[in-house]
Amino acid sequence: MAEGSAEREVLRLMTGPWVSRAVATAIELGLLDRLAEGSADTDTLAADLELRPDRLERLLRLLASVGVVERDGGAYRPTDVGDVLRRGHPSGMAELALLYDSDMFTAAWTRLADTVRTGVTAFEAAHGTDVFTHLTRNPEDAALYTAGIAAGGRFCAVIPHVHDFTGAHRIVDLGGGDGSLLAAVLESAPQAHGILVERPPALAAAELRLGPLLATGRCELVEGDFLRGVPHGADVYLLSRVLHNWSDQDARTVLRHCREAMPPDGRVLIAERVLPDEDPPWLSTFLDAHMMVMTTGAERTEDEYEKLLRSAGLSTRHILDLPLEMRLLVAGPCT
Ligand SMILES: C[S@@+](CC[C@H](N)C(=O)[O-])C[C@H]1O[C@@H](n2cnc3c(N)ncnc32)[C@H](O)[C@@H]1O
Repeated sequence: MAEGSAEREVLRLMTGPWVSRAVATAIELGLLDRLAEGSADTDTLAADLELRPDRLERLLRLLASVGVVERDGGAYRPTDVGDVLRRGHPSGMAELALLYDSDMFTAAWTRLADTVRTGVTAFEAAHGTDVFTHLTRNPEDAALYTAGIAAGGRFCAVIPHVHDFTGAHRIVDLGGGDGSLLAAVLESAPQAHGILVERPPALAAAELRLGPLLATGRCELVEGDFLRGVPHGADVYLLSRVLHNWSDQDARTVLRHCREAMPPDGRVLIAERVLPDEDPPWLSTFLDAHMMVMTTGAERTEDEYEKLLRSAGLSTRHILDLPLEMRLLVAGPCT
């Protein structure tokens, strides 16, 4: 390794949090929204946004150095990365960036050592309670969470293209968040009725997202707790990014409820990042560590999912690839 390059790499690693703070700040200040309207020099941007030009120039330089904006002569313009971070972009990446940079998440990460030393969940060490109870008590954090998680769930739109829902009549989405997945699934299955089971903080967002389907009776919202039970008699139970929030014991409880509630030809569809046995890609690795910080759960391997499913009387029929390292496990009752 060339002299100094290891030290340089340490500096790159340790300044990572400054980058995420700078990106979130650019969103908060409206800088990326302004740049989406047209490139501009620092003085114009500062005047438009009522900011200090000298300080803004230094922030812009940092953002340029990490590829969020670029210089175009004397002006700045957003790169493709900067463009997806404008508010209102269909990717929702601004909401996701603000969630990842939130005090709620960063405070939990400061307690990583507690998790590694004692096994306590870092989120609980930081906030005094588990994440879902915290969200019930803090509506602002809950709104941030539901919007940010929905933004990370764009893969949902692909699920109806890889799995055929046309034979299903009753589809239950457990922990369905803002309802984006259920909306996509019901669009592909006009004969089906949907039920979204959620905790109160997410229900308001789901009501908004599923409004037209609720109005026409195509679906209903149910305030419920999948650890206590699930609606009976569905052909399909959807569990998208739910099981990774829970310990094996709790995940088994949810799966057992599904097994007991479903007909013999019913299916449980699990959308998760499924870790390969060796060398998981960086995004899945990071999100597994994030699950350790936030919850009692984990990203699991195919074998781990199969063991979990079998312990609940279910087994995997097949596994399908989804974007962003996500996979869809299609499971049914053990035969
Ligand atoms: C990571 S989010 C996934 C949301 C959605 N399925 C998706 O993939 O975008 C997990 C969801 O589970 C919900 N949840 C947590 N505990 C629950 C419980 N006991 N019963 C029902 N929903 C729960 C949370 O409110 C949250 O919306």
